[in-house]
Amino acid sequence: MIEAFRKSWWIAKKSANLLIVSIRVFVYCLIHPKKLFEFTFSIFSTINKFYQSSHGRLLDFKTTKIFQDLNKNPVFARCNFFLADSTVTHLAEIHILATLTCYLKPKRIFEIGTYNGFTTLHFAYNSPGDCTIYTLDLPPHYDTEYKNKSSEYSYDDWLVVQLSMDHIAKRIFKGDPNAAKIKELFGDSATFDFSPYYGKIDLIFIDGSHSYPYIKSDTENAFKMLSDTGIIVWHDFDYVIHKDVFRYLNELSKERKIYSIANTRFAVFGNSL
Ligand SMILES: C[S@@+](CC[C@H](N)C(=O)[O-])C[C@H]1O[C@@H](n2cnc3c(N)ncnc32)[C@H](O)[C@@H]1O
Repeated sequence: MIEAFRKSWWIAKKSANLLIVSIRVFVYCLIHPKKLFEFTFSIFSTINKFYQSSHGRLLDFKTTKIFQDLNKNPVFARCNFFLADSTVTHLAEIHILATLTCYLKPKRIFEIGTYNGFTTLHFAYNSPGDCTIYTLDLPPHYDTEYKNKSSEYSYDDWLVVQLSMDHIAKRIFKGDPNAAKIKELFGDSATFDFSPYYGKIDLIFIDGSHSYPYIKSDTENAFKMLSDTGIIVWHDFDYVIHKDVFRYLNELSKERKIYSIANTRFAVFGNSL
């Protein structure tokens, strides 16, 4: 009887302590919301770093022939970081994309997701003079004309789409000497007719909508467009913000050899990697 009372008393004391600590933490978070945000963010960043360094199920790009070639014979790409919107594409990512373009010497590039034209212009500056860069984005007034017709969108996409509409008329390649290499295309990638490009594209960059149905259909179209020696690069292979991209590519990696490039959000496929 005394033993049972002692045990209950011990549990009651521990529960009271836990309750007091929880109330203190709760009050602290109310008074210091910034600290709570930083703490939560640091937890997510740590998980994200872990996944990025582990590449999920993807293979390490360092094992590819391209990586080894570039290590032996470095290529020096042309970049202009002063034009960058690094909230969209990180500077290291632009540099790697430009380097891959120099290395591959593609005749035709297809980009899904033009936005302000930053990656598009880097493709133009780093590809051979006779290369054509096709870049697809939603048409102007997308939100009013298409919003209700479109299928699922991921949480971050609508904001980017709204911002993108403002960029259409003043994309950074307008007036650039290399703009002649760029062909702007307008349409929703879910319904766009990719058939004229089947088997012809040497470098495909997927950076449109990041929701599961879109990333899946964009990827399926990319495989149809890919030339024998071409490569597909996906942006936003990250666990925290673009979970659908991360999930889809991990699933796909059971059938295809997909590589992830360390310290970037790039995943890469190529028959000749
Ligand atoms: C992240 S931005 C692209 C950034 C650009 N590649 C860069 O790094 O400079 C994504 C773009 O995809 C476009 N987009 C979103 N959904 C799309 C869709 N269903 N079809 C075509 N473009 C789409 C958006 O309008 C936006 O401009």
